[in-house]
Amino acid sequence: MKVIGSIVEMHKASLDLRNKRKSIGFVPTMGALHKGHTSLIEKAKKDNDVVILSIFVNPTQFTAGEDYHSYPRDIEKDKTTASDSGIDYLFLPSTDEMYPEGYKTFVNVEDITEPLCGKFRLGHFKGVATVVLKLFNIIKPHKAYFGEKDYQQLLVIRMMARDLNLDIEIINMPTIREGNGIAMSSRNRYLNQKEMVSAAAIYKALKISQEMVKDSERISQKIITEMERVIKNEEGIKIDYISICDPDTLEDVKIINDRALIAIAVRIGNARLIDNCIVEVR
Ligand code: PAF
Repeated sequence: MKVIGSIVEMHKASLDLRNKRKSIGFVPTMGALHKGHTSLIEKAKKDNDVVILSIFVNPTQFTAGEDYHSYPRDIEKDKTTASDSGIDYLFLPSTDEMYPEGYKTFVNVEDITEPLCGKFRLGHFKGVATVVLKLFNIIKPHKAYFGEKDYQQLLVIRMMARDLNLDIEIINMPTIREGNGIAMSSRNRYLNQKEMVSAAAIYKALKISQEMVKDSERISQKIITEMERVIKNEEGIKIDYISICDPDTLEDVKIINDRALIAIAVRIGNARLIDNCIVEVR
């Protein structure tokens, strides 16, 4: 595994790979690597000649008062995980190089960035879209891999790739879960033992929503109310939102007639956790 810190060097390595007709798979991350990330790497390895992983805790996607400074950083452990996973290049840009003084350009994907997490994290998706486009320009991948846990992020990146005519295939991969159903996330590291147990209510609520749809419940509000009941049963969880919406536009769905996204965001202790599932009515 080659570790590259500079943008110029990464750019040059990617161009060399492209000139040699190697297909490049890219997995962007903010580090604190877990099995969710390694599942993306595994898929990228299967699909491509070369896999590039980036680790960059992107300041522009954290809103005021969020956990930018306390976000888990464990670069030595991450290097070992990355190397063990068999990637070819690890890109570790510095914040100063990514956002030099006088940096002024941002990418704004309209509408789908407004509901769900967009309401609670103003400007978050602008930071995500900007850094992902910058990384795409530096790494020039053929394919890029994202987890379905961050469903809205995935949609934003897909829309950006479509609207800006990026010649990059966006691949989504299923959420990887802990034994008790909690979606793997770097932010799970904030949870203590007790909070970890409470967090299982998120998956339980999603499971119940799926069961209700299977049992022919179609009224979103009834499902949301039941999910809220399950979550509120647990100590120390605060709901940011539970939404049943169109999986493409994220507009609210009042009656489930075909496919719907059920998305949830909660706060437990110092962690803000998100999860989702898709339900389908035939
Ligand atoms: O999902 C993440 O880890 C980040 O939002 C991403 C896509 C690496 C951009 O910083």
